[in-house]
Amino acid sequence: MNLLIRNGTVVSSRGERFENVLVKDGVIWSVGLNVSCDDAKVIDATGCLVLPGGIDPHTHMELPQMGTVSSDTFTTGSIAALCGGTTTIIDFANQIRGESLRETIVRSLGQAKNKTHCDYAFHVAITDGSESSLRDIEWLMTEHGVTSFKTFLAYEALMLTEQQFRAVLRLVGKAHGIVTLHAEVGAIIKKNIAEALASGNCSPRFHRATHSVEAEAQATMLGLQWAAEEGCPLYVVHVSNAQAMQHILDAKMKGQKVFAETCPQYLLLDESLYEQDFDEAKKFVMSPPLRSAADRAMLWSALANDSVDTVGTDHCPFLLSQKDAGRNNFCKIPNGAPGIEERMSLLYSEGVAKGGMTLAQFRNVTSTRAAEIFGLAPKKGDVAVGGDADLVVFDPNCRWRILAKKQHMNVDYSCYEGYEVCGKTRDVVLRGNVVVRDGNPVLNKPLGQYLKRRIFS
Ligand code: URP
Ligand code: ZN
Ligand code: ZN
Repeated sequence: MNLLIRNGTVVSSRGERFENVLVKDGVIWSVGLNVSCDDAKVIDATGCLVLPGGIDPHTHMELPQMGTVSSDTFTTGSIAALCGGTTTIIDFANQIRGESLRETIVRSLGQAKNKTHCDYAFHVAITDGSESSLRDIEWLMTEHGVTSFKTFLAYEALMLTEQQFRAVLRLVGKAHGIVTLHAEVGAIIKKNIAEALASGNCSPRFHRATHSVEAEAQATMLGLQWAAEEGCPLYVVHVSNAQAMQHILDAKMKGQKVFAETCPQYLLLDESLYEQDFDEAKKFVMSPPLRSAADRAMLWSALANDSVDTVGTDHCPFLLSQKDAGRNNFCKIPNGAPGIEERMSLLYSEGVAKGGMTLAQFRNVTSTRAAEIFGLAPKKGDVAVGGDADLVVFDPNCRWRILAKKQHMNVDYSCYEGYEVCGKTRDVVLRGNVVVRDGNPVLNKPLGQYLKRRIFS
């Protein structure tokens, strides 16, 4: 079935132009002012933007954490993704200690297969840095197109030593992949937590205090230094504060291959939310935690000068009842928050509509840069002939209110409850299939395909 999207403003790497998009066999066939087709289903995009399908490079569906599991399955989370204009997610295959990396990817592929409604890929998180474990890196790249590997310098069950982290950087760099870093120094957090608990400081505000700016900034600095020494590109996930961002800016200035991801929560929310009572504050317990208003402002200016490469969500929802596990001890609150469904609207509303970023920057951070960095281009990340027909008809003038009871994410709260936003995903096309119409999912069997990715170039 051919599809013609007409009368919209197409936002692509060629600029923003009033043109039509013709889709055949799931790919973009032609784009232009006079493009038409008699034999096509038509979507009228008058007054709307036609964006490349969003790519969220940071999601956690069904993530086991602290004795529980994040509440969105690949099914519910991917439906929410589509409703928010995201057609591709890069989730995480987290190695469970004792498991080989081969087992990790096979297990994760099995979890997502035939259940995911958007396209998907996996970063593999390496938690066993032994020589025998790391031997599988090259196999993951060639066999499964996994070209990015997540590392931690904090959390007992996840972290690598400096030696192990350097070995990952060496091996991944040699194989032309990219390492991503959750930048927190475990020793600093551990010491802070011991002191807080010893003083009887158990409420969520101490999650913020213990997961300090210093812990994040120092890990960012070390990660950058080691990546430069070992010759590997580095992507720092969920950058939350000005000091960490400044280290990345300095490295970029020196010409290092380094990329920064931030998230809507670090741009829009701040640490004052931890000063509420437990039932409110628990919603925002995530790592790194929300920071100061000054940190937020710095991240916005980094976005405005193109120093932030992507805005991912770190979508990792837990039900309010799951968050209750830490009522008497903040360390037991599962870390993470929902966000996949509102990413595009929030960023458009707070960024583009308020004049803080251009449409080109919006396209870049929500889609194009993730496709380039993580080896999904040229099929994904642009509205260009030959690419996958992943397209979003986005109404920039639609004003609406974010309410948890209306969302598709499987979670019983929103970090943005009651926010009035300007800009809404109206229709979504995934490889030529209309999967969202007028904001509602139109889905039968899951159409999501696993994406093998290209090496870093
Ligand atoms: O609090 C967070 N960010 N939870 C998700 C896991 C991670 O480290 O990104
Ligand atoms: Zn992380
Ligand atoms: Zn994460």
